Amino acid sequence: MKQERKSRREGARDRSTVFTEEPIVGEKLDYELLDSGNGEKLERFGDIHLVRPIAHAIWKPQLSASHWKAARGHFQRATGGGGRWKWGSKRVPHSWILQVDQQRFVLKTTSFGHLGIFPEQQQQWRWITDLCESQTEEIEVLNLFAYTGGSTLAAALGGAKVCHVDAARGSVDWARENANRSGLGSHPIRWIVDDVQIFLKREIKRNRRYHGIILDPPSFGRGKKGETWKIETDLVPLLELCKSVLVDKPLFFLLSCHSPGFTPQVLTNLINDVVPNGGERAMGEMLLQGGSVQDLPTGSFARWHSDEKIEASVEEAKESE
Ligand SMILES: C[S@@+](CC[C@H](N)C(=O)[O-])C[C@H]1O[C@@H](n2cnc3c(N)ncnc32)[C@H](O)[C@@H]1O
Repeated sequence: MKQERKSRREGARDRSTVFTEEPIVGEKLDYELLDSGNGEKLERFGDIHLVRPIAHAIWKPQLSASHWKAARGHFQRATGGGGRWKWGSKRVPHSWILQVDQQRFVLKTTSFGHLGIFPEQQQQWRWITDLCESQTEEIEVLNLFAYTGGSTLAAALGGAKVCHVDAARGSVDWARENANRSGLGSHPIRWIVDDVQIFLKREIKRNRRYHGIILDPPSFGRGKKGETWKIETDLVPLLELCKSVLVDKPLFFLLSCHSPGFTPQVLTNLINDVVPNGGERAMGEMLLQGGSVQDLPTGSFARWHSDEKIEASVEEAKESE
């Protein structure tokens, strides 16, 4: 099993010649926070530099204005909400590929300023992959609000079976594309377009259980049929549902979010009601690491993992219930 997982990861690494449709931009295919300040961040995605808003970056930028002006695109918030891209003289491709460790993401400049990746999740992705990979038994992982699949790919690269849930078909299609690009096209991943609460209630009825759960809820969202998601009122009931789909001896739980006020300690207090006593806990800010400039906090995470190895598969666990 372990050998099989290892070769799956190596398989993903060896596919560098396969990607012919989009230009592979830059030699290193990587991400960098170049600077932040004046309510904005300057980032490099491959060799494409972009400026996007981030309200709390109220300090002074460290780089000169000429670095910021050289960006190929600048997303500016509109006063009534939303916003628009302002383009420089050099065109940004319709889509391009960005590599983060062994994950490959198709990036696009969307009309709401997202690109299809939250690079501050990289530390969590590494943690997920390593944890899944360290297991000798097959494990099942549930990824909620799964967006373009960064955590799904991380768990799959660690050899886990994954269930990926998001209400937006466009996000799920995008995540599937990322899985294909990362060499995980035939990996066991269930791709579900649904509201997370409705999906979990259905899973409870089906008696399905997971060894690990990941969730990165937005402040506000919409389910598949327009159901409203509000983090302040809906997160606690959702965590209760999550608890009901965890196996008796779970492996891990990871909650992250970008909502103001949801500090690492708030998230820790919330997951303490879900996970068993003991095990290892960690919490912190999610950071875009600046290298030569200041780090930029963008959200918080809290996570727990068991210090015991998983002993039985989900099927066996179900049978013993
Ligand atoms: C972008 S991610 C969250 C990332 C980040 N935490 C943030 O604040 O933007 C949000 C994802 O949750 C999905 N989503 C929002 N409400 C949902 C719901 N009720 N059920 C399932 N997915 C939902 C969206 O489609 C989107 O892909």
